[in-house]
Amino acid sequence: MLNPGTSADPAVTPANHRCEPYLRLHWTDSHTDAVGYLVVHNLRGGLATGGTRMRAGCTLREVEDLARGMANKTATFDLPIGGAKGGIDFDPKDPRAVEVLERFCEAMRPWLDTHWVTAEDLGVPQHLIDQVFEKLDLDQSYHAAIRRSADPAATLARVRGGLNAAVDGGFLLGDVIGGFGVAHACLAAAVQWGQAPADTTAAIQGVGTMGGAAAYYLSEAGMKITAVADAAGTLYCPAGLDIPALLELRDGYGEIDRSRLPAGIEQMPRGDIVSADVDIFVPAAISYAITPDNSFDIRARVVVEAANAATTPEAEAMLAARGIPVLPDFVANAGAVAWAWWLLLGEVDDVPGTSFDRLRTTMHNKVAQMLSAWTDEGITPREIGHRWADDPAPLTGPVVIP
Ligand SMILES: NC(=O)c1ccc[n+]([C@@H]2O[C@H](COP(=O)([O-])OP(=O)(O)OC[C@H]3O[C@@H](n4cnc5c(N)ncnc54)[C@H](O)[C@@H]3O)[C@@H](O)[C@H]2O)c1
Repeated sequence: MLNPGTSADPAVTPANHRCEPYLRLHWTDSHTDAVGYLVVHNLRGGLATGGTRMRAGCTLREVEDLARGMANKTATFDLPIGGAKGGIDFDPKDPRAVEVLERFCEAMRPWLDTHWVTAEDLGVPQHLIDQVFEKLDLDQSYHAAIRRSADPAATLARVRGGLNAAVDGGFLLGDVIGGFGVAHACLAAAVQWGQAPADTTAAIQGVGTMGGAAAYYLSEAGMKITAVADAAGTLYCPAGLDIPALLELRDGYGEIDRSRLPAGIEQMPRGDIVSADVDIFVPAAISYAITPDNSFDIRARVVVEAANAATTPEAEAMLAARGIPVLPDFVANAGAVAWAWWLLLGEVDDVPGTSFDRLRTTMHNKVAQMLSAWTDEGITPREIGHRWADDPAPLTGPVVIP
């Protein structure tokens, strides 16, 4: 194997969104029928970053797409690492799910110890993966980066301080920062249209870590969210849903308790969210949510991808032909990974305002550029994003983690 720490960076730019992954690992569980995958799309400075998801039916192809997306995110946001992803084909609600995650992480230990910085993703909340890392004596899921610090204990304390910083709404900064970025991608679209948030409507598929936080910050900004969906179905209220009240009703899997719904909410099948008559549609749950089979159902003016790989390329082309741009995952939801690395690199701390200000500015700037290119030149937001990803800031030396 190539030494991942070499500066040759074999799998990086140019065109990292088109090249084959650097590495694919396939794991089979000894106790259940779970299988899992690690795909490292590319290494930079010997490191790659990307969360670990668990869902029944997760495939290698999906994890490859997600790892490529992570490489695009790190390059687009000038982060000095490559992209990777872990995925486990197993039901996260199965009582054996935590043990499966533990065995997967144990099997991936050589990578998690030195090269792969992982985090939460669909079906795997941050507190759970951190709990597994602690059990494996790896402290925290950013371990591979933290151990490179000159003072790992101080870095770990900073990371924990940032992740656990309290923010409004009773949330923790680490749990909401990614969704905050998504919300500001949506708000930047409204700015581009010259439309006040109060005159703008949105529908959100998924109200877990990403979708829930996006919904919270959009409603806080005054945007009317008329529909949300979780795995159990779609909830609809044309006058606008009371988002904070609904978020209070979520369980640990991001599902809303139907027995305690406020009055005036219509319940519909979960697939109906796609056809909500809104300005902005935010897929924030599964990958491949928008396909050629349902792309004609979309009535929104813009799709903002909080979920990774939410729109298939064919569906995106069909939407573009109808004049509907897609703000791609590797920009719209990249606040989560960008912030994690700002924290690791000591560029933000446990003061939430600093993190929110930086991400808000960054996101508005990128979305304004993408939507201007779409309106003025007919270039898709993804194409603009790929141009950024093809031209990341060069590494000038080893990554220094303070
Ligand atoms: N958590 C992160 O830090 C992070 C960062 C970037 C991107 N993402 C992406 O965001 C997406 C969601 O991740 P998450 O961490 O919020 O997951 P989560 O497990 O916290 O929440 C998932 C939500 O989606 C709902 N859901 C599941 N299947 C659904 C379906 N078929 N239809 C409608 N709703 C469904 C669940 O009920 C839940 O509300 C994933 O694509 C993930 O890759 C997550």
